Amino acid sequence: MSESRRIEERRGFPECVLAPPAALRALGGVGGHFGAPHVAGPTMTLDDLGDIKRIDVHDTRDVLAAFAAQCREATGLVARPAPSIDRPSAVVVAGMGGSAASGDLLAACAADRADVPILVHRGYGLPPVAGRRALVIASSYSGETAEVISALEAAIARGVPALVITAGGRLAELAAQYGLPRVALPGGLMPRMALGNLFFPALSVLAGVGISVATDAEVAEALETVDALGAELVPERPTRSNEAKRLALAIGNRIPAIYGGQDTGPIAYRWKTDVEENAKTFAIAGSLPEMNHNEIEAWRAPAAGGFHLLLLRDHAELPEITRRFTVLRELVEAAAGGVSESWTRGRGRLARLLSLAYLGQWTSYYLAILREIDPWTIPLLDELKRRMRTDFMGGPEMAPQTPQRSEPSRGVRGRTRETRDGPR
Ligand code: PA5
Repeated sequence: MSESRRIEERRGFPECVLAPPAALRALGGVGGHFGAPHVAGPTMTLDDLGDIKRIDVHDTRDVLAAFAAQCREATGLVARPAPSIDRPSAVVVAGMGGSAASGDLLAACAADRADVPILVHRGYGLPPVAGRRALVIASSYSGETAEVISALEAAIARGVPALVITAGGRLAELAAQYGLPRVALPGGLMPRMALGNLFFPALSVLAGVGISVATDAEVAEALETVDALGAELVPERPTRSNEAKRLALAIGNRIPAIYGGQDTGPIAYRWKTDVEENAKTFAIAGSLPEMNHNEIEAWRAPAAGGFHLLLLRDHAELPEITRRFTVLRELVEAAAGGVSESWTRGRGRLARLLSLAYLGQWTSYYLAILREIDPWTIPLLDELKRRMRTDFMGGPEMAPQTPQRSEPSRGVRGRTRETRDGPR
């Protein structure tokens, strides 16, 4: 399918120019309490590398461009010592935010083949399903996330087999203290940008305990697919042949409403969180068929005009899902502010889902650039963590959650970077 068919844009910014500030104000003030967001001027494009570098002061683009390399290197990361459990009754991935996303991807890839439930637990403690025959994977890039520490402590207290995937922090200390298997990740990334590091070791761990989620051939295909896609999405690639830039421009100042199908639904959620953290703007996400039974009723004019309908399609989707996408579009297109479709790439489920997630990373990156916002930093999230730590862990001191790079990383591709503050 040609790119022009893959992305169907309506009422976006086809000249690759941002709408004037009035267009954003008309959406109803996404700035709210924190003030109106800065809106790029009408001459802002995504093809000026100078503009991109001026806004992307932490060189996030290099991290995203190196994603395929990150994934490839991550296939070599293993848990030490190897987990001793064989065929657990359930797998519970405890994680939050970017570190939970790898669990979602794992569960989505396993959905059509694993006979063991893979649950993603986002919260404190552990659910009862995490019993002595289960396996808990405590996934936290920084190793400092309170909810995940609490989940691991619950596993230790209950005697549930557990392992840790982290770059350091308290989780690494607990793993060392209790002799738990740990996958030691390279540091220096934002967690949401470490998806490859978090995901591929978890895949290997599951294979090691007898749960096959993807074959070696499927992993190889996924790596190739992501590699090829990356070359199409980097800032050097002009808008006319760059799907992520085109999507960001089509969304413009609207709120993206991102819907996946039965298989791509979890990826839609990942897009939403990437948009929120990278572009610092609202996004909603859902999946078909479920949204056909509720959220569809919200798509009424005039409010729907402030949203951009973004459909995440899969070449392997069920005919029923295809029909539902078609009818949904027919019913809401006139009310929506704009409509785009993006399709998975590759054959295997892992390639399809990972490449779609990667497209979302780049799209959210370009949305940040359009809004003249540094995609790297997350000051409110950091501040919330700081205050929680002050209240519950006995002191105001903690390392900044956002890695502070001491020097620009230009030209460092395919490698993770160290930060002044060590691993997140
Ligand atoms: O991407 C981010 O920075 C966040 O979503 C984090 O992943 C989240 O706050 C949890 O932190 P960590 O991944 O370090 O456990």
